[in-house]
Amino acid sequence: MNRIALLPALLLASFVHHDIVAATGGTKTKTVDAEAKMFTMSAGYERFMGRWSRILAPAFVAFAGVKDGDRVLDVGTGTGALASALEAVVKSGEVVGIDPSEGFISYAKKNAKSGRSRFEIGDAQALQFKDGSFDQTMALLVMNFIPDHNKAIAEMRRVTRPDGVVSACVWDYNAGMQMLRFFWDEVVALDPAMAPKDERHMKLSREGQLAELWKKAGLMNVQEKPLVIDQAYTSFNDYWEPFLKGAGPGGAYVVSLSEDRRQQLEDRIRKRLLGDRGDGAFVLKVQAWCVRGEVPKSARS
Ligand SMILES: C[S@@+](CC[C@H](N)C(=O)[O-])C[C@H]1O[C@@H](n2cnc3c(N)ncnc32)[C@H](O)[C@@H]1O
Repeated sequence: MNRIALLPALLLASFVHHDIVAATGGTKTKTVDAEAKMFTMSAGYERFMGRWSRILAPAFVAFAGVKDGDRVLDVGTGTGALASALEAVVKSGEVVGIDPSEGFISYAKKNAKSGRSRFEIGDAQALQFKDGSFDQTMALLVMNFIPDHNKAIAEMRRVTRPDGVVSACVWDYNAGMQMLRFFWDEVVALDPAMAPKDERHMKLSREGQLAELWKKAGLMNVQEKPLVIDQAYTSFNDYWEPFLKGAGPGGAYVVSLSEDRRQQLEDRIRKRLLGDRGDGAFVLKVQAWCVRGEVPKSARS
């Protein structure tokens, strides 16, 4: 099977641990279709999560310690938020973004700001690069979506040169991600059967979990740190529309609901975000756990 033919399977496999089946108003097939699409609709993704990634990316680049002249691999580049922040720092190096989603890769290519970045279809679990070919290998909001994260971290270490840095961030889905926390709290209040699907159970999203994975992979001088950012929303629709378009696991759930059920959920979330104001601007805060570690000087360590 060629890599393009593998894509639908890869995308579905990424979310096997998130096989949301709507308890009300949707069939399993309908929900699985929505899940398969959730990371392929670039414009919806940008309004949903890309807007957060673009704020977080420069702080992540600084934390990882990327320098001008570095050759950097952006694993799970999506629509290219991290690659674009990297271009601002890496004036004379190269940024390579890989992602299994064809739609995301073509969006990232179209929106690249310079000839210093290139984008390819690829899978973190089987990177198509030579050993030690990058100074920095980074994954922004990706590790939790990779079915075999142990394989991915081994691959990320392999393609990074000795003394180079491997780094990642994952949202603190439990308590520190207001944008999704408010959503899932209201989903579960309305439909307790959805509790196991609440993204608070997302792997690698709690303090210490990324650091443990990095140490297990043999990376040195491992540091983990929370990065906190704010996002301003202009109105309730500014927040809600991406969910209606099926973005992310939450959006996959929303599009699987009957109209009545969707309206009930919308009313609860509107109240949670705006109280009695009905509509207006508001600000949400989110936290990500970020980790960095160095590849040992001797590749065999
Ligand atoms: C939440 S998005 C993050 C995208 C981007 N890094 C950002 O911060 O906006 C998760 C990304 O992981 C990608 N992904 C899922 N499984 C993957 C895998 N096995 N290898 C590489 N990327 C993967 C998805 O296609 C999606 O683009």
